[in-house]
Amino acid sequence: MVNDIFKKVLNRMGPLGEHADDAHGYFTFPKLEGPIGPRMVFNGKMKLNWSLNNYLGLANHPEVMKADADAAAQFGMAYPMGARMMSGNSNYHEQLEKDLADFIGKPDVILLNFGYQGVVSAIDALVDRHDIIVYDAESHACIIDGMRLHIGKRFMYQHNNIESLEKQLTHATKLAEKTGGAIMVITEGVFGMSGSQGKLKEVVALKEKFNFRLFVDDAHGFGTMGKTGAGTGEEQNCMDGIDVYFSTFAKSMAGIGAFIGSTKEVIKYLRYNMRSQIYAKALPMPLTIGSIKRLELIRTRPELKDNLWKIVNALQNGLREAGFNIGITTTPVTPVLLNGTIPEATHMTFDLRENFDIFCSIVVYPVVPKGVIMLRLIPTAVHTLEDVEETINAFKAIKHKLDSGQYRQEKLATAKP
Ligand SMILES: Cc1ncc(COP(=O)(O)O)c(C=O)c1O
Repeated sequence: MVNDIFKKVLNRMGPLGEHADDAHGYFTFPKLEGPIGPRMVFNGKMKLNWSLNNYLGLANHPEVMKADADAAAQFGMAYPMGARMMSGNSNYHEQLEKDLADFIGKPDVILLNFGYQGVVSAIDALVDRHDIIVYDAESHACIIDGMRLHIGKRFMYQHNNIESLEKQLTHATKLAEKTGGAIMVITEGVFGMSGSQGKLKEVVALKEKFNFRLFVDDAHGFGTMGKTGAGTGEEQNCMDGIDVYFSTFAKSMAGIGAFIGSTKEVIKYLRYNMRSQIYAKALPMPLTIGSIKRLELIRTRPELKDNLWKIVNALQNGLREAGFNIGITTTPVTPVLLNGTIPEATHMTFDLRENFDIFCSIVVYPVVPKGVIMLRLIPTAVHTLEDVEETINAFKAIKHKLDSGQYRQEKLATAKP
């Protein structure tokens, strides 16, 4: 008997979906309302919010809002109609590509409509079945999904472990010599959960021993890392060794879209071979012109990044001094690692949100090991030192309650009446 697709999927809602009835609208799909910033309304009440990747505070910077609104008034959201290759190219798209290339110090850049699709499609375009991908074990889902399209071999190395990478490169090299294929190493600039940096400089140094190209997803590093904000390659002084540099507009740029920087020839190849761009409509004008403005602000207002780091340092030093385990972050991403069960995590988060008026993301198994609760804080340039102090005090209080068993419950917390 042939099964029914709907019956099948509804029988396996997945690790998050199985909690949907209790969690929806509160732990999952929460609505943050009011102007974007450190104070937003959640569940009808103002909360101090640490959950947005609005690193530089550009999301509602007045100059950004004006650029977006002016472009929408002039062009609407539809323009340009069509994929760039067919009928959707414009001087603005080309200008944004040139500005990005100049900023990151790569010869050329291709714009992408979304980061996720862009990475998937770039991996698909760059490798064929003879080629081998060697990738970090904690790579973002878009890298993993890009690899799902890859019909050749792949080797995973232990997260940020150069010895393990070397071992996998040795296997990959032997295989590539047989198949006549090539090798691409993929890692991230900043890992978005732990806040650790990919060891890019050490990976690049392996090019002395092995023949490979390096693809870096720097979603969290662009705008936040490096002297000028050009990303983790700049921070580690190894941008030239990154052959394919990717970042998204979803974080520091506070928009939608993404880009890849590389050699002129590789970008030309991608323009003519990336299916996610050839077969999809171009970025709308407000997102394109708005991104030109955002990049101008990143380039010309170093105080945005300075403010971000002032808050990052105050928050991370304050948490460490108060005895919290914040792992090995060296970037703005700030994980706070606690011990407890999933029900405890939900009761603690409920308390933090309802009684301390602090909203941050909560991460539990399977993203972190069983028994670990991670509260993930994203500091931004528009937080204040008072916000930091208020948060550390609240965290001390909830940690005390957690450690003394006050959140111990069988069931998950639910905000449903
Ligand atoms: C590391 C990483 N890569 C790629 C993406 C996807 O980017 P986008 O939101 O533009 O699809 C994200 C999330 O935004 C990310 O964190």
